[in-house]
Amino acid sequence: MAKTHEFEVIVVGAGGAGLMAGLYASKTAKTAVLSKLYPTRSHTGAAQGGVGAALGNVEEDNPDWHTFDTVKGSDYLGDQDAIEFMCQEAVKAVYELENYGLPFNRTPEGKIDQRPFGGHTNNITKKPVRRACFAADRTGHMILQTLYQQCIKNNVTFYDEFQVVDVIITNGVTAGVVAIELSTGELHTFRGKAVIFATGGHGRVWSITSNAYAYSGDGPAIFMRRGLPQQDLEFFQFHPTGIFKLGILITEGVRGEGGVLINGKGERFMPRYAPTVKDLASRDVISRAIYLEIANGNGVNGQDYVYMDVRPEVVNKFAEMDGRTRPDGSPYRVTGEEILSKLPDIIDFCRTYLGVDPVKDPMPIQPTAHYAMGGIPTNKYGEVIVDGNATVLPGLYAAGECACVSVHGANRLGTNSLVDLIVFGKYAGIRAAEYAKGASLAPMPTDAPDFARAQFDALLNSKGTERVPDLGNEMKKVMMDYVSVFRTEEGMNKALTKVRELQARFKNVRVEDHGKIFNTDLLNAWELGNLLDIAEVTAVCAINRTESRGAHAREDYPKRDDTNWLKHTLAWKENNEVKLDYRPVVITKFQPKERVY
Ligand code: FUM
Repeated sequence: MAKTHEFEVIVVGAGGAGLMAGLYASKTAKTAVLSKLYPTRSHTGAAQGGVGAALGNVEEDNPDWHTFDTVKGSDYLGDQDAIEFMCQEAVKAVYELENYGLPFNRTPEGKIDQRPFGGHTNNITKKPVRRACFAADRTGHMILQTLYQQCIKNNVTFYDEFQVVDVIITNGVTAGVVAIELSTGELHTFRGKAVIFATGGHGRVWSITSNAYAYSGDGPAIFMRRGLPQQDLEFFQFHPTGIFKLGILITEGVRGEGGVLINGKGERFMPRYAPTVKDLASRDVISRAIYLEIANGNGVNGQDYVYMDVRPEVVNKFAEMDGRTRPDGSPYRVTGEEILSKLPDIIDFCRTYLGVDPVKDPMPIQPTAHYAMGGIPTNKYGEVIVDGNATVLPGLYAAGECACVSVHGANRLGTNSLVDLIVFGKYAGIRAAEYAKGASLAPMPTDAPDFARAQFDALLNSKGTERVPDLGNEMKKVMMDYVSVFRTEEGMNKALTKVRELQARFKNVRVEDHGKIFNTDLLNAWELGNLLDIAEVTAVCAINRTESRGAHAREDYPKRDDTNWLKHTLAWKENNEVKLDYRPVVITKFQPKERVY
């Protein structure tokens, strides 16, 4: 018999969205947060450069500009009602974080300091605007620490190192989840009136990735196994600046502080691709520019990388050429000390992993798999929707990277991941607690753990010879080669065929460790199954979308096609097939236009 626990609201995942949801739910409901990690090790900690909010602390800005920039950044696939809601709410949410004690950098007058980020503009001059509120280059880490402390203060019950492996829905109503306690290998049943999934992304599908090991798409894969759809999985963001070969993130904040991208000929190439905002164009534009430079023989030393250069003499030279000024109108000039104080972590990463000191040397970078724009479809209150008519599944919520509201559309703007998780984490928490007050616990079938148990038994009982790392590496390579920054039908078909072959071979995967205590061998195998399912659906959706939009750049269909493709994809896994349907994009103020940066 699995141990059973009862709560009003159950949150799955303890990153920024899960903690914000847990904090808000716990104000009125008995709340538990389950996480496969210790909460402050969640991947939100990897978000470095800032959280966007139009505070206007250092220059003129307003939430309407943030809204337009997000719609444009999304290549008009984002739902404009949700985007407007997010950008308005962002200001309040950032001040809440400040009140909770988050140690933001400060202006000389003591206000929250702000830096420029890609795609954030003054909508009148079209020039970059300082909108990213930051705590050096540890903004996500500070959000985690701050929210975790608030949750503890608010008596949220934490189940650390409990990995959720199933969601239970009884007669169309959410009944709870099933989780494995990592330290014992035991299955537990958690009954809840409302369940909020905040399990993060799935960037471990690709070989070069900024994503933590834990980012194995657990939430979306669990949902698909229970017949629930995913939305817009074809859109996956490649951050332009990952450390060459390692993929570790070099924050866009480097470019916010004046860093520039330099090719193997020593040229600053972004003005050719984005004449107005240059190195502060949106991420899809810059990642493509880097790929094109490399394809045209302009990689450094003939290799697949270019330089990110933040040496003070380089920053100062280009700041002078661009006429960049400080908020007080004085010329923008930096010193090594200033760079070090604003970007301490990335300087440390480069010194540790590359033996490169960014104050003295340029950093070798390449685009790295970073963020899932697609995921579990929700409305702006985090309620999970299950079809093209936006029908809500009672008691089920999702927020953060595993969810698709959709505010990021085809391409997310930098800093908007943190905005997304504080705003929609909060509203999912509020809504779930309200729902729980009016609901009773749905019946939990006595055999609730059996579906998950069967998946683990199959892995443990397999006598096959396939190894998890081999299958994983083959998946990552083929997805990196064919379903990354540039795509073609031919390449993606090769990837899909390979992924399906790997899914078949996965049935013969061998788990060496048959023990119960912290059996990461077994869990890694289960997570690989999740990643393979997500890779398959990603490839199917990407092949199906015969246009280029945002992060989905098809060489065989190079143009955006609003006539046929201004719509969200919904995808279900059914009987080993992927079934597709569509939802309309919500357009309020901004009719689709060509994007120019
Ligand atoms: O570049 C960065 O600091 C990443 C932030 C983000 O993904 O929003």
